[in-house]
Amino acid sequence: MSDIAPGPVRLPTERPSAFDPPAELAELREKCPVARMDFPDGHQGWLVTSYPEVRSLLADPEFSARQELHHHAPYDHPFGKEPIRPAEVGFFIGMDAPEHSRYRRLVAGQFTKRRIALLTPRVEEITEACLDAMEAGGAREADLVEQFAQPIPALVICELLGVPLEDSDRFHGAIRRFFHLGSDAEESRAAYLAILDYVAELVGRKRAHPGDDLISGLIAREELTDQELAGISLLLLVAGYETTANMIGLGAYALLTHPDQLALLREDDSLGDNAVEELLRYLPLFRSGGMRAATRDTELLGRQVKEGECVVLSLSSANRDPARYGADADRLDLRRSATGHVAFGHGPHQCLGSQLARLEMRIAYTALLRRFPGLRLAVPHEEVPLRDDMVIHGTHRLPIAW
Ligand code: HEM
Repeated sequence: MSDIAPGPVRLPTERPSAFDPPAELAELREKCPVARMDFPDGHQGWLVTSYPEVRSLLADPEFSARQELHHHAPYDHPFGKEPIRPAEVGFFIGMDAPEHSRYRRLVAGQFTKRRIALLTPRVEEITEACLDAMEAGGAREADLVEQFAQPIPALVICELLGVPLEDSDRFHGAIRRFFHLGSDAEESRAAYLAILDYVAELVGRKRAHPGDDLISGLIAREELTDQELAGISLLLLVAGYETTANMIGLGAYALLTHPDQLALLREDDSLGDNAVEELLRYLPLFRSGGMRAATRDTELLGRQVKEGECVVLSLSSANRDPARYGADADRLDLRRSATGHVAFGHGPHQCLGSQLARLEMRIAYTALLRRFPGLRLAVPHEEVPLRDDMVIHGTHRLPIAW
């Protein structure tokens, strides 16, 4: 590592390909893993790119996840121009202990590995139904994003929360506008409020007519106000949908453009779980990564971090760190042991839906490859439209043929 720290950087966002994080991140990771970063609103904070530091900061209680403390947007985004607000009650991803732990504990029981495994038959059914619908047209061509990668997690999360499918139009477009970099502050705020309005109404309906779902279960415990229930539902709906949908789509795209890896997976079904971990490690899903704010002055790899400064934790750079994953960390290798990756974060805020996302991904790839032995891209590689205009990466469409 060089001892000369470069001047402040901007968050690099230009990706060399659909599958690789910005090249500047690797350079920073090698030369200056804790770098001074200029935020678009004038704030000066830090960009952390190395695996050990990203992982330990995610677990460090002195780096706060409170939304109102790390409100500086790391790249141009409409929310960066918003007034500072604390997280909605119940929206626990933007909170610290003890508030965070209280909310998280109330829902965590629904997301344990054992509870999620019980969903296997239903997720398989949903997946097979999507494949049936793709085949039904007889065209032997489809958009994998629209007909497969999006509906699977949408249907699963709707069932889990007890959201009627016919309501999905009410929040689907709003979630898209919320994550779209081209939305202005007004559109972005309106989209956010539309989703919030929807979940508030949903909680009211569940209180009047409880069902066999997560929200009704939380209501029955009588520990949460309707506002808190709406905040939790909002978080689960937003966090559980676009992330998984784009991982399924981008992962399928990666497999189709790495034929040696695709062949490995076809030959050996038992590689499924490992393949999912490696895809999670390898694919850069988020435009930035985790955000935290220092709650006291501290030192990080010799750099003086001051209380109140924001820190961007680049998950995709950490996941490609050769110090953790070896000299070929930039290679997709479904046989590698990708354990310890930070695609789901780490520490108290580690993704609550990780087991669900893993289950959906594994079932999706297994069923897709089994159904279509001749699966291939229906357009040249370069024509697949990438989501460079969205907070969560992936592809807008993935035309496939079989
Ligand atoms: C491949 C898909 C997914 C990825 C890559 C992903 C990634 C992440 C990451 C990186 C975090 C940590 C954020 C931080 O530390 O600031 C997180 C938190 C969270 N995720 Fe996921 N997620 C996925 C799917 C899901 C699903 C399916 C659900 C739920 C149904 C979900 C619910 C949550 C929740 C509730 C949190 C907040 C946890 C807390 O603050 O305690 N996620 N996710």
